[in-house]
Amino acid sequence: MTTGGTAAYQVHIETFGCQMNEYDTELVRSLLIARGFAFTDDRERADVVLMNTCAIRENAHNRVYGHLAALRPIKKQRNLVVGVLGCMAQNLKQELMDQASVVDVLVGPDAYRKLPDLLTQAIQAQERGLTEKGLAVDLSEYETYEDILPQRAEGLNAWIAIMRGCDNFCTFCVVPYTRGRERSRDPEGILREAEHLAAHGHKQVTLLGQNVNSYRHDGWDFARLITAVADVPGIARVRFTSPHPKDFPPALLDAVADHPKICKHIHLPLQSGNDRILNLMGRTYSRKEYLALVEEIRRRNERIALTTDIICGFPSEAEEEFLDTYRTVREVGYHQVFGFVYSERKNTIAGRKYPDDVPDAVKSDRVTRLVDMQKPIALQKNRDLVGSAVEVLVEGDAKKSSTQWMGHTGQNVTVVWDKHGAKAGLGDLAQIRITHASVTTLYGYEI
Ligand code: SAH
Ligand code: SF4
Ligand code: F3S
Repeated sequence: MTTGGTAAYQVHIETFGCQMNEYDTELVRSLLIARGFAFTDDRERADVVLMNTCAIRENAHNRVYGHLAALRPIKKQRNLVVGVLGCMAQNLKQELMDQASVVDVLVGPDAYRKLPDLLTQAIQAQERGLTEKGLAVDLSEYETYEDILPQRAEGLNAWIAIMRGCDNFCTFCVVPYTRGRERSRDPEGILREAEHLAAHGHKQVTLLGQNVNSYRHDGWDFARLITAVADVPGIARVRFTSPHPKDFPPALLDAVADHPKICKHIHLPLQSGNDRILNLMGRTYSRKEYLALVEEIRRRNERIALTTDIICGFPSEAEEEFLDTYRTVREVGYHQVFGFVYSERKNTIAGRKYPDDVPDAVKSDRVTRLVDMQKPIALQKNRDLVGSAVEVLVEGDAKKSSTQWMGHTGQNVTVVWDKHGAKAGLGDLAQIRITHASVTTLYGYEI
């Protein structure tokens, strides 16, 4: 461990889970840098290893346990403080500390302000040959980290968390327990942050919340907020995630359909296309109501791309009920479908009330059938664009070649084109004529 008091302790942080966790990692970086810690990408050089964890499904848990096990031999050789942050820390609390002896510090999503002190105590104890465990897992009804400017990664996109927590208690979901109650940030602070981002070269802002469209603050709702953010000069594009189908008033539909800077993409989690299962899930809409919302969206602007999340094998889901989901997904015609096998979560309503009785092989088979059905739909949607011009934000080099640019359309489809002959550079909006298409990517040239 670094000694002498002048060199900063080196922290290595790994992030699992959703965009909110990516954002929280930026908050944590900011909180720790303010207290004199430094960050390193090299785990071998780190005095502190932090993992910002996710609890949404069993496999998210297993990955973290795997990483923790890998730290054990390192910890035997030298001083190393290990911290677990995020949703898994919040959900398992003391149990995780007891199970994984390698963990020194455990901090939940509402308690990050306590992290610098807890790390400092653990480091100082280790330097004296002692072990001091630190635990901070209080949930708060108010914490929004309003005053903390996240230490953002360089790049064109920036996340702004506008609300935190979730009050929906979908029966399968752990988030209301790991993230606590819904609370929204002051719109003035959000708009100041968007202006700051624009001034620092971020072209795209993604508004984040576990339930982003239930944003509410002193007469402001989500429609008003997203419009105000999109109106900030210098911001070229605004996205948002994740919304719930229950909170789409006409003003929000109009804003997404009509505002030139709000991307024509809505992630609209369906979860199931069967009413009995939707009811057991506590989703508060029926298949018919969901389809009516899709209709409303497309009536306003047929270019709006829809993507969704589906859970396969929720307790007691029969084949015929899965087929309702299958047919609904086919009927809507999404740009992208994220299919998940149901994973029973500790503390959730479904975990307590409904036996996890669909065999794993059946769950996986249902996900596979959904994915196989979805592929030709996505391919067709992309092929429909061949010959037309699309507007793309130039985001960086293509994955496969630095002689090509990569960006996304407003509908969030990846586009790749040659740099040779291209006028637009990083951060510009380019017009790309599409020449061919795959399931996931469009290819073309700049016009
Ligand atoms: N707030 C978002 C969801 C965030 S979680 C919303 O309401 O849409 C992201 C996705 O993970 C969910 O949409 C759901 O499809 C999936 N998910 C959540 N809990 C799950 C569980 N217990 N098992 C399997 N998938 C789950
Ligand atoms: Fe989970 Fe439902 Fe809240 Fe989404 S809306 S975070 S699925 S409880
Ligand atoms: Fe995972 Fe927590 Fe996000 S459970 S999906 S990291 S809100």
